[in-house]
Amino acid sequence: MTNTAFGPWRGLAPVRADQGPQEVCDAFARHLYGPVPPAPRGISIEREPCGPAERLTLGIGGATFDALLWLPDRRRGPVPVIAALDFLGPLGVPGVPYPIDEGAIICAPQALGGEGQRLAERMRGRSPGRWPIEAIHEAGFGLLLSCYGSWVPDDPDAWQSRGLAPRLGSGYAAISLWAWALMRLVDAAEGLEGVGDVVLAGHSRLGKAALWAGANDPRVAGVFANASGCAGAAPEAHLVGETLADLTRRYPHWLRMGAGLPEGLDQHHLLAAIAPRLLVVTGARDDIWADPVGSYRALCAASGVNGWPDPARMWSEGGVVRRGAMCHALRDGEHDLTPQDWSAALSVLGGAFS
Ligand code: GCU
Repeated sequence: MTNTAFGPWRGLAPVRADQGPQEVCDAFARHLYGPVPPAPRGISIEREPCGPAERLTLGIGGATFDALLWLPDRRRGPVPVIAALDFLGPLGVPGVPYPIDEGAIICAPQALGGEGQRLAERMRGRSPGRWPIEAIHEAGFGLLLSCYGSWVPDDPDAWQSRGLAPRLGSGYAAISLWAWALMRLVDAAEGLEGVGDVVLAGHSRLGKAALWAGANDPRVAGVFANASGCAGAAPEAHLVGETLADLTRRYPHWLRMGAGLPEGLDQHHLLAAIAPRLLVVTGARDDIWADPVGSYRALCAASGVNGWPDPARMWSEGGVVRRGAMCHALRDGEHDLTPQDWSAALSVLGGAFS
């Protein structure tokens, strides 16, 4: 039986010494994501208790956006924080009286109570496995989480109707706007007493945004991209799963219109632009759409070092493999962000920031 995870492979051009983060970001802005808007002049932050967490209200250019911050009880010195956008945001995490953003427009997975495009009471506490606060705290991290649909509606018709697009102008596509939102979470973390380094995390479309933000923003100390797939860690050169043509057909608002990578540029360049900072790429065996094998190949190419297990061995053995600042983990199962993905990521991140 052929394994559909292994498809035709065109190979990847090596990352050249002149392809530094700036050049790579310029090229990806031109050909794929469109530009990331410039930073705002400043942001204001209000903090108020919200159950065991704190609600942060970020004031940006006359608008406000919410995030929730969970800091571990036991801490000595500044706590590193994982900052992320999520489909449900803090509403999906159990145990916090977080208010529903009635205006957010999301694409919610069925398993999380998704139906329609609005956040709803039935989604409350539905994604504990995606954001396992205790494990994150045990590894020494805080978590700063916000709902992506509050910043940019995830809908090809409505995405410019509220949130960032009407404020920042029409020259930006959604993934760049989500990346910009992640950078505002970094601004917020930087302005908070007791908070140290910031690592970005994201699942799937939000893994794409986390990688793009990490490549653009040198303040980001590391990135954990789970099942980020096409326009994330998965290269076009591996003909498996989603292609850029598939993606732009279904989600025309995510990327620059008419997006396509020129010969010689592929997602491993984006991954390399995050080095030498930490990068954790995770995938799952049944998630062929997100091309776990291609993502592994891109990571190996981006690392610039040899000595990675070959893809067939990585596939049969699974688990965590690390070379330098780059780390990969494969598990059984489907497209999701699970405690197993976190345990792999935290095993690397925990050691690096404690
Ligand atoms: C779709 C899309 C992917 C995306 C995924 C997700 O499957 O095609 O590109 O990563 O949704 O965000 O869950």
